[in-house]
Amino acid sequence: MPEEKLPDTKALKQHLIDPEICIRCHTCEMTCPIEAITHNEDNVVVDADKCNFCMACIPVCPTGSIDEWRVVEKPYSLDEQYAWTELPEQQEIGATNGDEIEALDEAMAALLADAHKGAGGKSKAPASAAKPSVNLYNLAKPATAKVQGSYKLTADGSGADVRHIILDFGGQPFPALEGQSIGILPPGTDKDGKPHLPRLYSVSSPRDGERPNYNNVSLTVKREEHGVCSNYVCDLERGDEVRVTGPFGSTFLMPDDASAKLLMICTGTGSAPFRAFTMRRQRVAAGMSGDMVLFFGARTPDSLPYFGPLSKIPEHLLRKHLVFSRIPGTEKEYVQDRMMREQEAIAEMIIDPNVHIYICGLRGMEEGVEQAFSSIAESAGQSWSSMRDAMRDEGRYHVETY
Ligand code: A2P
Repeated sequence: MPEEKLPDTKALKQHLIDPEICIRCHTCEMTCPIEAITHNEDNVVVDADKCNFCMACIPVCPTGSIDEWRVVEKPYSLDEQYAWTELPEQQEIGATNGDEIEALDEAMAALLADAHKGAGGKSKAPASAAKPSVNLYNLAKPATAKVQGSYKLTADGSGADVRHIILDFGGQPFPALEGQSIGILPPGTDKDGKPHLPRLYSVSSPRDGERPNYNNVSLTVKREEHGVCSNYVCDLERGDEVRVTGPFGSTFLMPDDASAKLLMICTGTGSAPFRAFTMRRQRVAAGMSGDMVLFFGARTPDSLPYFGPLSKIPEHLLRKHLVFSRIPGTEKEYVQDRMMREQEAIAEMIIDPNVHIYICGLRGMEEGVEQAFSSIAESAGQSWSSMRDAMRDEGRYHVETY
């Protein structure tokens, strides 16, 4: 039994699941050989009385939310875990001494290292964004991906149905970079009896996978009324097979230079590439990467995709301006309005040759954002159109609107 490999201490390293990252695909629950994992309508949880640290659930999780541990003397109960909207911090441990905890940590590290050996490992992330792979799979020869899970990111009653969908490419190489898109081929035919054409979706995971070193990709998709493909994608269930083309796009990519500063402006699902950019920097360059600033517009906090995890990213990594247009009793605010309020900081950024600007989301936003840049540049005595054209020539100005 794996638990015999653990030292006999008062404290326990309790296995927990991060409710903010978990997509409730229940793969862990189905894999657990001793039924230690259960769920209710809110969360998937681990029963500390049953878990024997066999680690069978660790490699199968598509997100990595399964890999959470807290040293505790009194384990968190199932009811406590069901009530969480976020994981608690590690608490101070009273009675157990430091040596015992160290021994426990070491033993657990060995078990986890073993568990991770069987994890993913198929993806080979491109080292650089300088040479993106494009069109590896096309209409005649699409890739087949399997849905690992689909999770609704927006609250019921928020008026928006935005989903986080994870696709696994198994043994097929699918080297997608942050900022690239993939095509999804909905089944069936259009009104003229012709097969549907693929619809493009921006990848919201970093190049080494939704979970590091897994050959999987995530998408952020909003259900559109009468949308053929968005409804198809939003209705996909775990285990379904999807035909995929791509990857596509060779311009809306991250600078290779980790010290480059990123100014990112988005609305709604336009946040997908910026989630990927941010995760990439968190994984490889945390602490040494250049500034990232995000202006993100949504109707309300509960319709803003990834609100919880986003709010947790420290301000020194990502300066966040979350802007809401439909909070009752509050004046409507768009990203361009907030940019005007932050005009001094933006004026400083746009003259910096190390800044890259990315705009992604509703086409209507583009005009307002351009006007904001124009007026900010003008008040600094600059011409926005010449600044922007120069930035574009240097590959530092990127727009993707729809
Ligand atoms: P609103 O719809 O309240 O006017 P969506 O939820 O449709 O994906 O939109 C995301 C956010 O973008 C919403 O807050 C929406 O506001 C906002 N938005 C709509 N039009 C514009 C625009 N022209 N410029 C900036 N933001 C916009």
